[in-house]
Amino acid sequence: MRRAIAAAEEVRGSTSPNPPVGCVVLDAGGEQVGVGATEPPPGWHAEVVALRQAADRAADGTAVVTLEPCAHHGRTPPCTDALRAAGIRTVHFAVEDPNPVAGGGAAVLRAGGLTVHQGLLRSEVENGPLRAWLHFARTGTPFVTWKFAATLDGRVAAADGTSRWISSAQSRADVHAIRAKADAVLVGTGTALADDPALTVRDEHGTAASRQPLRVVVGRRDLPGSARLRDGTARTLHLATHDPHEVLRALAGRGMVDVLLEGGPTLAGAFLAAGCVHRVLGYLAPALLGDGPAALAGAGIGTIDDAVRLEIEDVATIGPDLRISAVPRSRG
Ligand SMILES: NC(=O)c1ccc[n+]([C@@H]2O[C@H](COP(=O)([O-])OP(=O)(O)OC[C@H]3O[C@@H](n4cnc5c(N)ncnc54)[C@H](OP(=O)(O)O)[C@@H]3O)[C@@H](O)[C@H]2O)c1
Repeated sequence: MRRAIAAAEEVRGSTSPNPPVGCVVLDAGGEQVGVGATEPPPGWHAEVVALRQAADRAADGTAVVTLEPCAHHGRTPPCTDALRAAGIRTVHFAVEDPNPVAGGGAAVLRAGGLTVHQGLLRSEVENGPLRAWLHFARTGTPFVTWKFAATLDGRVAAADGTSRWISSAQSRADVHAIRAKADAVLVGTGTALADDPALTVRDEHGTAASRQPLRVVVGRRDLPGSARLRDGTARTLHLATHDPHEVLRALAGRGMVDVLLEGGPTLAGAFLAAGCVHRVLGYLAPALLGDGPAALAGAGIGTIDDAVRLEIEDVATIGPDLRISAVPRSRG
């Protein structure tokens, strides 16, 4: 299953609105004979890719999949059919498919005489490659990670508005790798006008990646024709609204599952106040600015009892900076 998770991670960011799934096929003796992951739409599902690699060595074998195999005819035929046709005897999967149309694959396989085990490394998959997609499948709206870079005293810009750069080159490279896995990156018009960001995925030489997330600007002001967001390197969507729910509905309608909210403080505050932040990714630089805007503005929190409490899920050192990933604590 860990190999299947790694295969899924490799394709995360290229499969939406389909889930990034990984599959490993073992032969009758337990030897790995195929590994596959979801292809970009309208490509094949992970099971089919892994079964093709395994060919006739899949007979009497085992398939290990991160998500319950689908039992329906979508753009591709049911994976349950492909598994049975290949002669697979046993299926292990981590997470049930919450989608009422595609789900039910386990029952179909069992009815066909296969042995099916579910739940192997479930939480690693739920909090790993399938996290955003499961959120999307359950709520119909994208999973939002709010990312920011701040000094140790929580400032995202200096008093005069300058902010380049707060975090290190290593942290900025890390952000490019995270952007590469997102379907869309979001900023407010304030950031677009103040910083003129490109919001593209680039390598260390500045070369743009072939696949770019959709760039989204939220707010009523227009951007000048010279703005980098209008340079054509990647698609840009300007949503002249202040309603985070409307933004998420618009992105869901475009098949966007995993969204990176890159600020600034006003837009992030509005998203947090609306309950539209599902993960916080903070890069903390060992620097102090004293004055200047804080990472969040206008989040509607006036007293300590209303603080949004988070659970830290990961802390990493990136160059000289700290990267903290945290999720809102579940209530009740
Ligand atoms: N260090 C970091 O991680 C980081 C990241 C981003 C930005 N920054 C810094 O943040 C500063 C910009 O801050 P900012 O707060 O002006 O940026 P912002 O949050 O990107 O933009 C704010 C603007 O977005 C629009 N908007 C969209 N939805 C809104 C809502 N629900 N409520 C209110 N306004 C909404 C409004 O403009 P309209 O009038 O056009 O509607 C508002 O003025 C810059 O100095 C930038 O360098 C730092």
